[in-house]
Amino acid sequence: MPEKPVINWGLEGVYVNESSICKVDGQNGKLWYRGYKIEDLAKYSNFEEVSYLLLYGKLPTKENLEKFQEKLRSRRDIPDEVLAVIKTMSKRAHPMDVLRTVTSMLSMYDNQVMTRDMALNEDKIITLIAKLSSLTAAIGRIRKGYDYIEPDEKLDHAQNFLYMLHGKKPNDSDRKIIDLMFILHAEHSTNASTFASLVTASTLADVYSSVISGISTLKGPLHGGADEAALKMMYAIGEPDNTEKYILEALDGKQRIMGFGHRVYKVYDPRAKIVREYLEKRLQEKPTEEVRKLLQIALRAEKLMIEKLGNTKGIWPNIDFFAGPLYRSVDIEAELFTPIFVSSRISGWGSHILEYWQNNKLFRPLEWYMGKLDLQYIPIEKRTE
Ligand SMILES: CC(C)(COP(=O)(O)OP(=O)(O)OC[C@H]1O[C@@H](n2cnc3c(N)ncnc32)[C@H](O)[C@@H]1OP(=O)(O)O)[C@@H](O)C(=O)NCCC(=O)NCCS
Repeated sequence: MPEKPVINWGLEGVYVNESSICKVDGQNGKLWYRGYKIEDLAKYSNFEEVSYLLLYGKLPTKENLEKFQEKLRSRRDIPDEVLAVIKTMSKRAHPMDVLRTVTSMLSMYDNQVMTRDMALNEDKIITLIAKLSSLTAAIGRIRKGYDYIEPDEKLDHAQNFLYMLHGKKPNDSDRKIIDLMFILHAEHSTNASTFASLVTASTLADVYSSVISGISTLKGPLHGGADEAALKMMYAIGEPDNTEKYILEALDGKQRIMGFGHRVYKVYDPRAKIVREYLEKRLQEKPTEEVRKLLQIALRAEKLMIEKLGNTKGIWPNIDFFAGPLYRSVDIEAELFTPIFVSSRISGWGSHILEYWQNNKLFRPLEWYMGKLDLQYIPIEKRTE
């Protein structure tokens, strides 16, 4: 028997590709998209520009950005059959399940799904960037019993999302919060969902199938689903004074506190810092009782978690922890957080899929077999328990 190899459970510490899209420095809490600091992109850029940057590797000129925005604006519509499925499913299914299903449906309107022409594949990704936000907004609106609102080409990406969700044009402050979250969620190197999309892409399956793998993987609470889970935990805590008791009991019971910890960051997630800053600013600008309470709970939980697990285990808040209260300040419900994440991460998935296809190699890792061999086959009538 050969010697058992070292198994890197969860691929921890394993490099699977080369990329020039994103750098995460987990020891120093830094993040760059195509070489640009996340703090600068959050402050000065917008989601359309960031998507262009991720896809094409450089910031657009004014003219290129306008052309790119024009493409996005003109592709936001939702086909009628897709809308009908949203209407049927939204009464019963979680928005992530609806979004996964209807994203898959979009391949039905594409008669070159399996093309290997990279210009066409790039174009499909741009279409998905435009449509996933519309789908998310429509799902969020229809599940609350409201009528679908058509996209408005005069609005930018974040404005249009809020318009299609809430039925009114947002003010600048609400727009900035959604745009910010779109920017911060757009990319994060080869995380679980990006890896899943690359595994599918590596088989030379199509863009839609690869993106569906990403969506399915993002859903889990250890990954993108943590934002919804973290807010629901804050609701379960209820009052700020309950925070410490709740967290200590959860830790004693070996439960994970959602919105904390990260495979790569062993210090404060730089995106979480940005979200927390915006949340604090937002509360001063538009104070509501719900968000005030959520922020108090979040800050008390953060303090305790850092004391208990920060320096000892490298467990710090991640982007998903403060995201929930910030989304609540724009009146977005918890079940829509991960679909919004999808609507943004499509830019990262798409950029990685195109990059990986330039040097494609089928993903096929090995497993160490632990079972038996050469067992005798027994006919069914002779088998016992
Ligand atoms: C993200 C996550 C899966 C990364 O975990 P990982 O790199 O696989 O690390 P492990 O799951 O092996 O955890 C290492 C240790 O830290 C603990 N830990 C990790 N995250 C924790 C959390 N959120 N709350 C409490 N303990 C946590 C584990 O229990 C484990 O403890 P042990 O060594 O005593 O067994 C993990 O931190 C987690 O579950 N976080 C909560 C979900 C979340 O917020 N996900 C979004 C990430 S952006």
